[in-house]
Amino acid sequence: MAFELKNVVPWGRTLEEYIQIFKLTDSDLKGKIISFGDGPASFNSQMAKLGKTVISLDPVYQFTESELKQRINETKETVIEQMKANQENFVWKNIKNVAELEKIRMEAMSNFANDFELGKEQQRYVYHELPNATKYEPLEFDLGLSSHFLILYSQLGLDFHLESITEMLRICKEIRIFPIVNLNALKSEVLDDIIAHFKTDFTVNIESSDYEFQKNGNQMLVIKRK
Ligand SMILES: C[S@@+](CC[C@H](N)C(=O)[O-])C[C@H]1O[C@@H](n2cnc3c(N)ncnc32)[C@H](O)[C@@H]1O
Repeated sequence: MAFELKNVVPWGRTLEEYIQIFKLTDSDLKGKIISFGDGPASFNSQMAKLGKTVISLDPVYQFTESELKQRINETKETVIEQMKANQENFVWKNIKNVAELEKIRMEAMSNFANDFELGKEQQRYVYHELPNATKYEPLEFDLGLSSHFLILYSQLGLDFHLESITEMLRICKEIRIFPIVNLNALKSEVLDDIIAHFKTDFTVNIESSDYEFQKNGNQMLVIKRK
């Protein structure tokens, strides 16, 4: 099925959030990082401003800066209304209220959008749709990340996850996936089977995260080469 912009609801997180989400240390941040389903997060643009190249992959990178900005503007009111209606499903600790959430998300997506065309030229934003193969060499990256895509969207199915994670592990020495709950904040239906599939050949652990916004979403799956 074609990936259409009208079905995308852009929503992007910041470098500070990625650091908490994945417990990124200074040493992690010095390594070579690739982020899958990175969308309109400002992780890449903020890292670039710090002089560090991160590769972000996402199907939305096939669109232009103005198409993405337009889609962000079209959808933001609806998302904020939904957040207001479902506030009890979230933990208002680091982000205090919906107004602050809107400010953080809009700043993140504006940072992303303003960096997008340059980042595309520099091959930092690369159009790619999981579970397809990437163009990168085996173990080219120290760390692969998936924030709020794999495992969360459990309806993509187990095969989608196993193929996607296999490709991620082909090019990354370690991967971290956050969160490990589904969109209803319940244990993701694909989690146990993913662990069972990879644990023979890899070290697979559930680790705590420093981030919890979706209730119960405070753990990540870490898979490393043995
Ligand atoms: C909820 S957003 C998360 C964005 C970002 N990682 C963050 O945490 O701020 C999910 C992202 O997954 C992307 N996505 C959807 N289908 C995908 C696929 N087949 N392969 C890779 N990414 C996909 C979407 O385009 C979107 O940018």
